[in-house]
Amino acid sequence: MQNNKERNWESFYQANEISWDHGEASPGLVDFLSSSSNQIPLGRALVPGCGRGHDARALAKAGWNVTGLDIAPSSIPMAQKLATNKGLNIDFLLGDFLSKKPESQFDLIFEHTLFCAINPNRRKDYVKAIQKWLKPKGHYLAVNYMITENDGEPPFSTNAEELDTTFRPCFDLIKRWIPRSYENRSGKELMNLWSLD
Ligand SMILES: C[S@@+](CC[C@H](N)C(=O)[O-])C[C@H]1O[C@@H](n2cnc3c(N)ncnc32)[C@H](O)[C@@H]1O
Repeated sequence: MQNNKERNWESFYQANEISWDHGEASPGLVDFLSSSSNQIPLGRALVPGCGRGHDARALAKAGWNVTGLDIAPSSIPMAQKLATNKGLNIDFLLGDFLSKKPESQFDLIFEHTLFCAINPNRRKDYVKAIQKWLKPKGHYLAVNYMITENDGEPPFSTNAEELDTTFRPCFDLIKRWIPRSYENRSGKELMNLWSLD
């Protein structure tokens, strides 16, 4: 079943119904940033669908120059406040990752539960958006939620085959692995590190 209506993310922040938010960065990202074998050169990182900015803060602490982007207006001051409280300088922008025109491009795009949040009929637009926001040869690192059930609401399902069909035409897969996850997502996430062709 597929629902063509876009979700009103702002209403979830206003109702404080942000069940996806674990109050901390993705464990897979934390491990990636602390592992010497996974390092990629530091630079400018974009976190689209950043929510309250937990992953953006982890990247900033690791030395990245970070911009967070989210479509829900209420998420932006929340993310800004949490970053400021930790003494971190992060730009949080309001906007639609799929349609906003970037003012500049990034060395890294990190995403975590954004691909699965976007309606599958917009996945081609999602790939175009990654290409648009990323510098040539830039990296795209994703923590993909690999659920198989689809009830027409986010999170939408995907699988490794579909990720390959979607991204391989424009990206090189550098590495794919099953990361450490929040307890309730254990074994259901796949990390993919791609570089733009
Ligand atoms: C499932 S939440 C994940 C939030 C955050 N990545 C996390 O894991 O805590 C999806 C987030 O993406 C945002 N979002 C959805 N569609 C978006 C779009 N087209 N552009 C930017 N942000 C979007 C929502 O407002 C929400 O904050």
